[in-house]
Parts: sequence; C-alpha cells; structure tokens
Amino acid sequence: MKIEDFALERWLTRHELYVKYDIAESGILPLKLNDLLAFEPAEDRAASLERLLNLPLGYSEAVGTRELRGMIAATYPNVDPDNILVTTGAIEANFLLFNVLLDAGDHVVATYPAYQQLYSVPRAIGCNVSLWKVTPENDFCYDLKALQALVTPKTRLIVVNTPHNPTGAMLSEHELRQVYALAESVGAMVLCDEAYRWLAIPGGENFAPPICTLGKHGISVGTISKPFGLPGLRLGWMVAPKDIIAKCWAMRDYVSLSPGKLNDAIAILAFKHREKIIERNATIIRANLDAANAWVAQQADILAWKPPRGGLLALLKYQLDMPSLELADKLATEYSVMLAPGSSFGYENYLRIGVGQNPAVFKAGLDAAAQCFASLRK
Ligand SMILES: Cc1ncc(COP(=O)(O)O)c(C=O)c1O
Repeated sequence: MKIEDFALERWLTRHELYVKYDIAESGILPLKLNDLLAFEPAEDRAASLERLLNLPLGYSEAVGTRELRGMIAATYPNVDPDNILVTTGAIEANFLLFNVLLDAGDHVVATYPAYQQLYSVPRAIGCNVSLWKVTPENDFCYDLKALQALVTPKTRLIVVNTPHNPTGAMLSEHELRQVYALAESVGAMVLCDEAYRWLAIPGGENFAPPICTLGKHGISVGTISKPFGLPGLRLGWMVAPKDIIAKCWAMRDYVSLSPGKLNDAIAILAFKHREKIIERNATIIRANLDAANAWVAQQADILAWKPPRGGLLALLKYQLDMPSLELADKLATEYSVMLAPGSSFGYENYLRIGVGQNPAVFKAGLDAAAQCFASLRK
C-alpha cells in the first residue's frame, strides 16, 4: 500500500517532546496508573495493584478479554460483547474496517477536514473518495444537503466523525439519523468515529446516539485515548455486525494479533471508574474553555473562534500575515507553545487548539502564544 504522509503526525513529532506548553493536544490530560488506583476505595487499592503486578503477561484473547468487552458493550444499549473487537487504538479499528469493507474503485464519502486517516486510508486502497466538507462558510456545521449531493447508488461507505476533530462540530441525533437513512437507502455502511464520545461540553448539547445502535449499517469506533486520558495504552474498539467483526479479527491476525494484556487489564480499571473520570474531565474542560474565551476576546483584533460544540478541539482563525505552518513552527521553537497548523487540515490562517490540557499549562501556553502574536502585530 502506498500512502500519503499523515501531515499532522509528521508535524507533531517535530515539536511535541521539546515544548513546554502543548495546547494543540487532541486528548484530555493523561491519567497515571496511580490516579486510576486512587479511584478505587482505599481498602481495595493494594489488592487491585497486586492483581496487575501478578498478571501473567502471556498473549491475551485476540478480540479483547470477555470482561473488557462486556464493560464496553454495557455502555451501548443492546450490544452484545461479540459485536466488539478490541483493537490497538481507534486507529487500528478504522484501518481494519477500511481494509475489510472497501476495494479499489469503491466510492466513499468522508468528512473533511478530518483526522487524516479517515480519508487517506480509503484513498490508499484505491477508492474514489468524495469529501463532505465542514467549512467556515457554513459556520463549521455539517451540511446534510451537501452530503445528499455526494452520495450515489455506488457509495459503499460514509465516514463521519462526531464530535469532530478538528472543528468541534457535531451531528445532532436528527442529522445522524439522516446520515444513516441515506447510507441505508443506497446499501452503504456508515463508519462513525466516536473517539470523542463522553467528552461533552459542561452544560452543552447532548450527543447523538452511537451509530451502531441505529441498525446494521452503522459501525461505531471508540477509544480510551481521548475520553479516559489513556492514549499510551493504545486501546480502542469497534462495534459492528458479527460478520464484519470476524473479518476484521482475521485481518488483525496479520497486524497486531491481540491487545496488550496489561493494557486490557488497566482499561477494565478505567471503565470501572468511567463516571469519575468524566467528572474530572468536565472540570478541566470548563476551566480551559473559560480561559480560551477570555484570551480570544483580549485578542479580538486578530483572533476569532467557534468554541467546540463537543469534544476538545476547535480551529482558531487568525489575521496575521504568516502561513499557519510557519506560525506554528515559530510558536513551538521560539515560544515553546504548540498550536497545530491549520494547513495540515487543509485550512490556511487557522490553528487547531485543544482544551484538554492541564489548566495551569493551558493558561501559560495561551500567555506564551499571546506574546508571539504581540511581536507579530508590531
Ligand atoms: C478522530 C480520531 N479518530 C481516531 C484517533 C486515533 O485514536 P487512538 O489513540 O485511539 O488510536 C484520533 C486521534 O487523534 C482521532 O482524533
């Protein structure tokens, strides 16, 4: 397979180990194993740690342990653990699904801009990919009429992502049902990347239901990376009809074989404390959104944004005479702050910001960026 470079990942790896203030981060502030253990009742902590320390580290069940799949399944109405394949992050779930569902020449409709995998892998397979654009002209909203114009009787797959990376857009329940009905009407599947599930804006809108609950044309992809702050565990999943799970599992034999055994066990601990983790996340999101809103207002002569409707991400529009890659490199190398270049999402004069960082680091990052903008205004 020949595939184009993942523009954002290439850029992130240039700076992420060297900056003090990463406010481009796409997930919530990572948790430590100690934080997870601290959610356990005090009298159970030692036993929980002991269980992890004494876990035999042989190969794990290829589809993910029954216990973990049961816990994931319980977060969806009427989903059986056998409809779930635990994968090496959402990235592997998406990759397997594209390769199982698609052949060269197939027509795919994919959200754009997007986490680049969502359209680059179908392209690399040789599909004809139409882009369903979330645009500033449309105030970063999904446009259902535009989707209707792209879907044809030849469409095999519609790829959506809600809440959306990088704009924070969302599909309402009504809109998601329309996407599903459109796919069903032409016999296509819908892959909904739900990596930002559970990351609601405090006091904000409700999320649409997971697409796998709408019927057999819907496949949901989830992860513990973003909502649980555990991206280092590399653990995600898909929820799909059993024949698709079987095919993805068979392909997975050639890729990663099975989830890491310790990762599966730690994910079980995280699911056990999901409600507390969501509460902790809401505090972080609220603090950072307030700080970001105040910061944008202070720099209204050059900055504007639409705060995320869901998830953690949004695009900042800036009015400075500098392309976004140059500006993002300058911010990282001279001011030690990371804001991702809009050009890696196809949008010039934008920077992507994430509101999941530690609030003190986030605030310091905003201040550092403000210094950079002040020097450029002169
Ligand atoms: C929309 C989206 N899908 C999938 C992923 C991959 O997540 P994971 O860490 O679970 O592989 C990301 C990571 O940034 C993402 O933003």
